[in-house]
Formats: sequence, structure tokens, C-alpha cells
Amino acid sequence: MSRTAVVTGGASGIGRRTVERLLAEDWTVWSFDVSEEALAEHARTLAAGSRLRFQKCDVSKPESVKAAFESVRQASDKLDALICSAGVIRIGSLEEQTLEDVDLMIGVNMKGPWLCVREALPLLRKDASVAAPSRVVIVGSVGGIRPKTGSGFYSATKAAVHVLTGILAVELGPTGVIVNAVAPGTVATPMVEALENRSATSSYKPSGDSPLGRVAQPDDVADVVLFYLSDAAKYVNGTVLPVDGGTRAAFVKK
Ligand SMILES: NC(=O)c1ccc[n+]([C@@H]2O[C@H](COP(=O)([O-])OP(=O)(O)OC[C@H]3O[C@@H](n4cnc5c(N)ncnc54)[C@H](O)[C@@H]3O)[C@@H](O)[C@H]2O)c1
Repeated sequence: MSRTAVVTGGASGIGRRTVERLLAEDWTVWSFDVSEEALAEHARTLAAGSRLRFQKCDVSKPESVKAAFESVRQASDKLDALICSAGVIRIGSLEEQTLEDVDLMIGVNMKGPWLCVREALPLLRKDASVAAPSRVVIVGSVGGIRPKTGSGFYSATKAAVHVLTGILAVELGPTGVIVNAVAPGTVATPMVEALENRSATSSYKPSGDSPLGRVAQPDDVADVVLFYLSDAAKYVNGTVLPVDGGTRAAFVKK
């Protein structure tokens, strides 16, 4: 039987590729995104039929999250996985950063996964057990492990979501819901393209190629998400796995 997943931020970048990879592995997928245009554009490029559902959802707004999961509940009483990929970045020094930018990043990157997990829990717990757990995967960032100047509150929100991953893992594990995070380095997505266009005029610089000689592609991250959803990872709980080609592992002496 087809397993069911919700992917937030499913219309672009890492989330979008995760949606496509899950569909290819016969999952039924709900793609949640705040951008209806992006969802509609993705729908046009995919021919996944009834195994793909699009749902407008602003993960930072409790009422929007509640309504989106209500739609899922009407179609299914069970969810096997939740992947929280929705995220935003607003760069700038902490001196420059506006309250609006800070509230946006805290709302989407930090509160968003918590609101979604909370709303998804009854569905994730249905038929789940420690022997056959349902899965939550949160997309954090290497910036939350080794923060970068010029990234404002972004790195702090990602460090916070790594901590929340650990707490959720320990609180929910006994009820058959395991929680892990993936922490990408630079990934070639529209988020990074937008930054590259701006960073010439800012103190923020993208990391560029990793020690492996390239930046990551969305598939590099989706591979790890799929591992976390696999049977092989059923005893892996509360981890934050960097997917950065080794960038954070040592400072480069110049
Ligand atoms: N690209 C990178 O280099 C990189 C590195 C580390 C971590 N990340 C993280 O990976 C995740 C995905 O990023 P990406 O690079 O694919 O970015 P992206 O901009 O390509 O995709 C993000 C998606 O999230 C959606 N979104 C934004 N705000 C939302 C909200 N309030 N509610 C629902 N959806 C919302 C956007 O519409 C977009 O479709 C983010 O959490 C990001 O912080 C990205």
C-alpha cells in the first residue's frame, strides 16, 4: 500500500525534489507551500495523478497549518512521514536586520516545523509503534552548526530547530514517531540563486564549492531524507546530519 507523506515547502528546491523522489517511490504526497503560483507551476510539470495533492499552507500561521492538515485528515486517517522543508532567509548583519525579517525567519524556520509536527501528530501516531515508527525529517542547516556572519537570525533559527529536533525525538519516540534533521550546506536552489544575486552588495557570502569540488544539488539532500524514511533508519532518532560535502568539518587555511 502507498505510504503517505506531507512535504512543506514542496513547490521549490529541496522540498520540490523530495516530492518528486517520493512520488517515484510510490508514495502518496501532499505538497504544502505558501506560494499557490509555485504549486500550480509544479503541478503542470508533473503527471503524478491522484498520488499528488497540492495544498496552500503558511507554516508560520497556526490556523493555516490546522486547515491544511484538516484537508489531509479528510482524505486519510494516517500519515507515515512529515518533511519540513519550508524555509526563508533574509541576509544582513545583526545590526542591519529588521524586526520584520527576524519575525519572518523565526515564524517559518523555527515555529513552522513545531506547528506542523503538533498538527500532524494524531495522523503520525496512527498505527505507528517503536518497531514500525512514522518519521519526521526537519530541514535545518549547517549554518545552525557553524554560523556565518551576515546571515542575521537565519543561523540562530536553524540552530534552534536542531535543538527542537532533539527534544521532539525524545518526547515523541516512545509513541512511535521518530524525528531527525538534515543540515545542508549550500544547495543549488532558487533560495541560493536569489542570494547570489544580492550578496555582491552585502556582507553575506555563499560558501561556494565544498571540499568535494561542487555545491550540493537538491538530490543530495533528498537522498538523505529518503534514508531517514527507510527501514534502515528505524532506530535513528534525534540526529542532525550535515550534508555539506565536509565544508563545516575544518577551517580552510588561506
Ligand atoms: N539552499 C540551500 O543552500 C540551503 C542550505 C541549508 C538549508 N536550507 C534549507 O532548506 C530548506 C529548503 O530550502 P530551498 O533551498 O529548497 O529553498 P527554496 O526557496 O527553493 O524553497 C523553499 C520553499 O518554501 C516555501 N515557503 C516559504 N515560506 C513558507 C511558508 N511560510 N509556508 C510554507 N511554505 C513556505 C517557498 O515558497 C518555497 O517553495 C529551507 O528550510 C532552507 O532554510 C537550504
